[in-house]
Amino acid sequence: EIGGVRIGKDDVVRDDPTNNVPDSIFSKLGLQLHRRDQHPIGILKNAIYNYFDANYSAKFVKFDDLCPIVSTKANFDDVLVPADHVSRSYNDTYYIDAQTVLRCHTSAHQAELLRRGNTHFLVTGDVYRRDSIDSTHYPVFHQMEGVRVFSPNEWEASGMDATTYAAEDLKKCLEGLARHLFGAVEMRWVDTYFPFTNPSFELEIYFQEKWLEVLGCGVMEQEILKRSGNLDKVAWAFGLGLERLAMVLFEIPDIRLFWSSDERFTSQFSKGQLGVKFKPFSKFPPCYKDMSFWISDSFTENNLCEIVRAVAGDLVEEVQLIDNFTNKKGMTSHCYRIAYRSMERSLTDEEINQLQGNVREEVQSKLNVVLR
Ligand code: PHE
Repeated sequence: EIGGVRIGKDDVVRDDPTNNVPDSIFSKLGLQLHRRDQHPIGILKNAIYNYFDANYSAKFVKFDDLCPIVSTKANFDDVLVPADHVSRSYNDTYYIDAQTVLRCHTSAHQAELLRRGNTHFLVTGDVYRRDSIDSTHYPVFHQMEGVRVFSPNEWEASGMDATTYAAEDLKKCLEGLARHLFGAVEMRWVDTYFPFTNPSFELEIYFQEKWLEVLGCGVMEQEILKRSGNLDKVAWAFGLGLERLAMVLFEIPDIRLFWSSDERFTSQFSKGQLGVKFKPFSKFPPCYKDMSFWISDSFTENNLCEIVRAVAGDLVEEVQLIDNFTNKKGMTSHCYRIAYRSMERSLTDEEINQLQGNVREEVQSKLNVVLR
């Protein structure tokens, strides 16, 4: 259900040749995990709302029901994504038709909300990306976007230039948010690039012996403000990944668990309880299957992963390239290791052999590769 309207896969054009949205993705539209107060994603959203309400006396207007089906203009053009940027490719983004996508970030709503005159807002929603498969990547996840617009009088008094003022305010705001959510946690700022902000930063948090990127942010490109009728203003924006943060806060080891309706998962969380540590209820062993093939020029790992997910659904935990070589004739071979593991039960050999057999057949028939 989106904005009170049920959306089924027949409600959107599906026979468009440019449509690359599989049924497994359509079935996620409207589930809105971020609007469930008892779900880790909803609990986290509410905790972030609390931080902004407490520190900005409820100035931030919240949107969490904007439709994830957006125009390429909103998703890319309005936030200045260059015409040749990889994120526009069919390999990275789900297209419903040539002008319509499943939003790949909540930044898709920035320009419109600015045009409507908003100066402080948070947008939460499901976002969609074609990607590889491992414990922290899933083709549907949730983001929260934050935008704050400043008027000249706000920075003029500080003696700083507008950009410095906005960047400092942004970092202070997000460091405060990180402390509100995590208490003491190791974090670091990394300079980066986004088409829509300059300067741009990423915040990383140390988790399970790795630096985990949890948000992107920066000072909004002046062009976006200008086009939305905010000529003399400056603004900051951030976009944070709710799953990444929730995995750290609740110690949820695998991103697939967020989609589980197993009571042993769902019953562990309650409204307002941020950071209750998840107790794993299963440690079923993974089963590994290797598959080698000669690739063609059109091969991409994202296409392979989509096929594996279409066959094995949430039983696939990871798809990893373990060998890659080119022979004297110039043919390139890839070997992928697929890890199968259920979060809920143990899988039988028979079941896994069946899945792997189906994966091989689908790969052979859809990917233009030669199995070895
Ligand atoms: N849209 C960016 C992403 O999805 C995050 C971001 C939002 C970065 C706003 C800067 C400003 O990765």
